[in-house]
Amino acid sequence: MRKKIIMDVDTGSDDAIALVLAMSDPEIDLQGVCSVNGNLEVSLTTDNTLRVVECCRAQERVKVYRGCEYPLVCTLQKGTGQYGVIPKRESAVSDTVVHRKQVPLPAPSIQAQEESAVSWMIRMLLQSDGDITVVAVGPLTNLAAAMRADARIIDKIQEIIIMGGGHKRSGLCSAAAEFNVWCDPEAMEIVLQSGCPITMVPLDATYHAKMGEEEAKRIAAIGTPEAKLVSDLIGQRIEGYRNGYGAEAVTEGVPVHDALAVCAAIHPQVLQDVKRCNMHVDLGKGYAYGRTVIDTRDCEYSEAANVSFAMGADRERFVNWVMDTLEKKA
Ligand code: RIB
Ligand code: CA
Repeated sequence: MRKKIIMDVDTGSDDAIALVLAMSDPEIDLQGVCSVNGNLEVSLTTDNTLRVVECCRAQERVKVYRGCEYPLVCTLQKGTGQYGVIPKRESAVSDTVVHRKQVPLPAPSIQAQEESAVSWMIRMLLQSDGDITVVAVGPLTNLAAAMRADARIIDKIQEIIIMGGGHKRSGLCSAAAEFNVWCDPEAMEIVLQSGCPITMVPLDATYHAKMGEEEAKRIAAIGTPEAKLVSDLIGQRIEGYRNGYGAEAVTEGVPVHDALAVCAAIHPQVLQDVKRCNMHVDLGKGYAYGRTVIDTRDCEYSEAANVSFAMGADRERFVNWVMDTLEKKA
């Protein structure tokens, strides 16, 4: 049985790689893609998503739905960045490199659907047999808004796989939080409290599944438009991380966060050291705003587990899946 998934993306470079793989792996039945404000404003994340769908020649079977333009709440709070875009700080990686405004593809000749992402997500889930997995690799704004707008979808979601959060690692945007959660912390908390089956693919896992120049060369040699895009984007990410973290930080390559979440949807064994635990998001307006707090205690005071939280990943299995999927498409 092919795996039915909905992707929620803030396309960006690793989202684009994740989309290529989701549209290339024959085991995945991609029902549609929702864009959201995150790495870039939603007009750009939507445009980039359309470019990738067209690159994969999937425009007949994969439709794109424009999502929320701003986070649910945090935009209203001072000091949390402008509408989810990382405030420009000297210390931060130059995000115009890791996530350039346009992915390196021609402008799209296709458009997003008229229906909004939230409306479509609700309609798709309600009319489904409860067999759809939501793979969220950007801020959780769309999914949280959909849950608030029509709670009936909660029982219709088979699983939510989220690239987000971090236990021993934080992101580029703050010392405490990973970007997708930091961008809309309240949305993540709403999803956490929904009761849906949730698998977290946090930075702790994604940093165990890096790809480097060696992999980029092997992928480029496949010779398809999709492979060229993936290779170019890995190279772009290496350059961006090198700018921000220095050459030593990219010796084994760079994480391709969102692609690991797609891999986990069909090969869950790619995630390692997976713990059932309780997770919340710090919603205080201090330095830890957006931090994912997991309860690793095993005591009577722990709240009930609400996530499966992966602390590691099988890099070899992940890289082999990427290579095989792109080679089969050739
Ligand atoms: O922290 C990594 C996440 O933030 C990825 O989804 C990346 O695309 C950015 O959105
Ligand atoms: Ca993303």
